[in-house]
Amino acid sequence: MEVTPSGQACGATITGVDLSQPLAAETVATIRAAWLEHLVLAFPDQTLTDDDLERFTLAFGPFGEDPFIAPIPGREHVIAISRRADETAPLFAENWHTDWSFQKIPPAGTCLYGIEIPPEGGDTLYANQHAALEKMPEELRTKIEGRIAIHSAKNAYAPDGTYGEADRKTDRSMDIRPSKDAEATKAHPLIRSHPETGREAIYGCIGYSAGIEGMAQEDALALLMELYAWQTRDEFVYRHKWAAGMLVMWDNRALLHRATGGYEGHARLLHRTTIGGADRRGPLVSIDKGMVACDPEGISGRQIRRIRLPVTGQITRPCKRAFEHPIVAHPIAAAMLDQLFLMNGQDDVLAHPDPIGRHAQIYFASSRSA
Ligand SMILES: [Fe+2]
Repeated sequence: MEVTPSGQACGATITGVDLSQPLAAETVATIRAAWLEHLVLAFPDQTLTDDDLERFTLAFGPFGEDPFIAPIPGREHVIAISRRADETAPLFAENWHTDWSFQKIPPAGTCLYGIEIPPEGGDTLYANQHAALEKMPEELRTKIEGRIAIHSAKNAYAPDGTYGEADRKTDRSMDIRPSKDAEATKAHPLIRSHPETGREAIYGCIGYSAGIEGMAQEDALALLMELYAWQTRDEFVYRHKWAAGMLVMWDNRALLHRATGGYEGHARLLHRTTIGGADRRGPLVSIDKGMVACDPEGISGRQIRRIRLPVTGQITRPCKRAFEHPIVAHPIAAAMLDQLFLMNGQDDVLAHPDPIGRHAQIYFASSRSA
């Protein structure tokens, strides 16, 4: 398997792996490490069915929840990003955003598989929000430090939103289902630590971010606009060019993305799945800097004391069958995990080891606890 960085602000191409076949645990670990480093991974020249796409997605987490867009017939977790050659409805997802950031536990990633790709145009742009934060002028950082953004799908998917009732009268081919549910709000810090790498990033942007806690709306929108101008500067952007048979996975926790047009008269079709996020209560068991910490708080509403233990010897232990990562775990952590599996069932547990095995975090998947 070969990883070739794009040379831009993020993004890499991976060749030498056939995603139509089940992946070995080491292959998944290598891909995950490349994903966390490059944030956008492109796998060209793949021939994938929807089953293959789903299996690939599940190697990296549980399925995320996709509200407001109907799945394709016969599938629960695959949606079609489609546009007919003669379609005149406004382009879908042309504004910068990160997917479903208005959810309590937003998706970790998105997978998108190119089925019909126009000869030109239709690039996807990605803006690296680690880089945007690292290079941010101190004056702007001071303004956003500690601030909590209020996210909502209202502007997009409420009945009076961009994809609301008026849009349903257009010739849009995508099956979008606007709803009053889009008016719900969820708060997320503007600066968040990445749950797997700990690296800070700016999270989300104006659009789904519709306000800031404790700020007058006018001031909040002005600040979100100022931030947006910084977040989307060219120096942080990777322009992704598609080809049919290409699978792309990206990290929603550290990126903004948007669609572009420029393919009028050509059809475009991609199938999409989302990788669910981890509960932001944090890892249940983590191994870091020679210590293992077990923190099963909130699993069943019970508080269990936090335990920190020195790592005396690392063992590699397979993580049951739901997510077959080799976890590097302290024997006591392993015993605790067994207990957790027993209490909650295997499918609720996600393991995210890093490839060098110094650091492993084990989360409960979001789907049932959300
Ligand atoms: Fe998106």
